[in-house]
Amino acid sequence: MRLRKKSNINEKIIKFNDIIINADTDINDANKGHWRNLWVNSVDSADSVSNADRHLFIELGTGKGDFISQTAELNKNIYFLGLEMESTVLYAAAKKIREKDLTNVRLLIFDINNIEDIFDENEVDRIYINFCDPWPKKRHAKRRLTHIRFLDKYRRILVPNGEIHFKTDNRGLFDFSLEQFELANLNVSDITYDLHADNLAGNVETEYEKKFSSLGVPICRCVVKF
Ligand SMILES: C[S@@+](CC[C@H](N)C(=O)[O-])C[C@H]1O[C@@H](n2cnc3c(N)ncnc32)[C@H](O)[C@@H]1O
Repeated sequence: MRLRKKSNINEKIIKFNDIIINADTDINDANKGHWRNLWVNSVDSADSVSNADRHLFIELGTGKGDFISQTAELNKNIYFLGLEMESTVLYAAAKKIREKDLTNVRLLIFDINNIEDIFDENEVDRIYINFCDPWPKKRHAKRRLTHIRFLDKYRRILVPNGEIHFKTDNRGLFDFSLEQFELANLNVSDITYDLHADNLAGNVETEYEKKFSSLGVPICRCVVKF
């Protein structure tokens, strides 16, 4: 049964091979340090910024793509890569990107644990971490995407002064993350424990954000500078 489900999704994904990149089959060492080349000659720009100087923002655990598709639509002069290991949800994200006819965003079927294998030093300008899995058991703390183990990986791939924009509904994960940012000597700003009450201008909601805020759960957010 599971096999049939998997082969169905693979067939569907092939129709989106201009948007979805499968890390297992479609990328190699040549991509590392050269992700912006995906967009050479493909993004219309009214400004004079060269391809190499254009910002590259990535989202970890893109899910069904509400956030990345809307954020990329609002920022067409920035390149976006969404990293997600579940091809079924990424298919939903790809549909949204095609509907909006966006050329500045691609989706990568990829396990974030190996992030430093595919990005070079100083290659990424900003990382979005939206509602990552909280891994509530203490013995699983190392799997949280804001654990210092991951922060060391992000430090390698981010430009100096690069940023993480982090949102979660999970107060325990948020407090843990603030401790990890301090442990890593990082500068944290824009901390809020109730993003929606604060009415942050330009906030783009994710699927999980909509779900939890509609249940009355306050959303925590902060910006971390490297
Ligand atoms: C809780 S969901 C949040 C989805 C979306 N960001 C949102 O806010 O609606 C977390 C997502 O991260 C993905 N994910 C978790 N661990 C991952 C990993 N190691 N590599 C890639 N994706 C991962 C999951 O498959 C899932 O789609």
